[in-house]
Amino acid sequence: LITDIRLRRVLDSRGNPTVEADVTTESGGFGRAAAPSGASTGEHEAIELPANEAIAQAREHAVPRLVGEVYAGDQREVDGVLRAADGTDNFSEIGANAAVAISMAAAKAGADVLGAPLYQHLGGTFRGDQFPTPLGNVVGGGEHAAEATNIQEFLSAPVGAPSVTEAVFANAKVHARIKELLEDEGVPTNKGDEGAWAPPIGDDKAFEIVDQATSEIADELGFEIGFGLDMAAAEMYEDGEYVYDGEDNRSTDEQIEYVAEMTREYDLAYVEDPLDENDFEAFADLTDEVGDETLICGDDLYVTNVERLQTGIEQGSSNSILIKPNQIGTLSDAVDAIELGAKNGIQSVVSHRSGETEDTTIAHLAVGAAAPYIKTGTVAGERTAKLNELIRIEEQA
Ligand code: PGA
Ligand code: ZN
Repeated sequence: LITDIRLRRVLDSRGNPTVEADVTTESGGFGRAAAPSGASTGEHEAIELPANEAIAQAREHAVPRLVGEVYAGDQREVDGVLRAADGTDNFSEIGANAAVAISMAAAKAGADVLGAPLYQHLGGTFRGDQFPTPLGNVVGGGEHAAEATNIQEFLSAPVGAPSVTEAVFANAKVHARIKELLEDEGVPTNKGDEGAWAPPIGDDKAFEIVDQATSEIADELGFEIGFGLDMAAAEMYEDGEYVYDGEDNRSTDEQIEYVAEMTREYDLAYVEDPLDENDFEAFADLTDEVGDETLICGDDLYVTNVERLQTGIEQGSSNSILIKPNQIGTLSDAVDAIELGAKNGIQSVVSHRSGETEDTTIAHLAVGAAAPYIKTGTVAGERTAKLNELIRIEEQA
C-alpha cells in the first residue's frame, strides 16, 4: 500500500518550477518522478497548473484518496483514482503536472516493490525485445528559439542503426557535425530549449545542412541515417494560412504540397505536425500522398488522447502518433494510446517535452510498451538522462 506521497517544486530545464512526486509504500518501495512542460503545447492538451497550485490541489484532493488506499503497483487503480479525484476530463482541478508526476512515481514505487526495472514492470514478462529508435533534435527554432528556423525541429533519424546505443551516438555525431558546418558558414551556433542548434538561417539552408551532416555521418558509421521534421504547424497557423517568417504564407493546399515536395526531395523519414492541430482531413490528404514511405506523426493533433486518435484512425489522418504522458495526465492513458495505435498500424513515438528534468520514465515507457521510436533530444543533460538510461536498459534486457 502507498503510505506516503510527497510533492515539491523542483527546477525544469528552462528554470521554471515543476512538480516532483515521491511515493513510498508499506513494504519499503520508493519512486520519484517529475513532470515535464511544453512550450508549443496543443490546444487540446490536459491542463498544466502553476506548480504550487497543482501541488496544493493534489494534496487536498488526490493524496488522501491514494495514501493507505491503493497499491503503487496497481497502475490502473492509481491512475483511476487520480482521474476520479480530479473529476474533469482534462485534469484542470489538480493539474496534469501533479497527476503525471504521481502516476510515474507510483509506477517506479511499484517496480521497486517487485525489485524489477521500471520497463519490466510496465511491459510485463511477455514484453517483446523491440527497442525504440531515438529521433534526435539537431536544428530548430519555432517556439523553442527566437531568430532561428521557422520549422521547430529537424530530427536526426538513425533508422539503420544496429542498436540503441549506436543510434544514440550517431545522433550526437550528427549534432556535432552540424556545429562544424554552421561554423564553416560563419553562422552563430546558438542553442534552443532542447539543446538543438538554433541558427539564424532559413529553413532551406537548414534542410541542406542537416541532409549533409546525416549523409556524412551515415557514411562514416556505415548505417542509414535519415532525418525528419517536427513542423509544429499549429503554431504557424493563422487565419487559414501557414505563416512563415521571411517567406510567403502558404494555404493549406500549398502547405501539403510543400511538405510532400520536401519529403520527396530529402527522403524524409518522419514529419510531425505538418498541418494544423484541428485539420484531420488535411493530415489525411498528406498521409495519402506520402504515408507509404514516411511517418506522418500527430502530436498537437492527438495530444495522446485515444478519442482524438480514434478520429484520426477513422479518417486516415496519420500513420504515427506522438506519446507525451503529461499531455493526457497518466501512464495508463499513455499506454492506451500506444496500444490503440499499435492495433491500427499507427507507430508510436514516445516523447519528451521542451521543458524537462532528469526524470527517465519515458525511456522505460518506450521500451515497456514496445514503442518503435522515442524522441528525447540529443545532448543536453536533461536529454542525455533519458538516452543514457536507454543505453543501460539495452545492456540489461
Ligand atoms: P513542446 O514541443 O514540448 O514545447 O510542446 C515538443 C514538440 O512539439 O514535440
Ligand atoms: Zn511536436
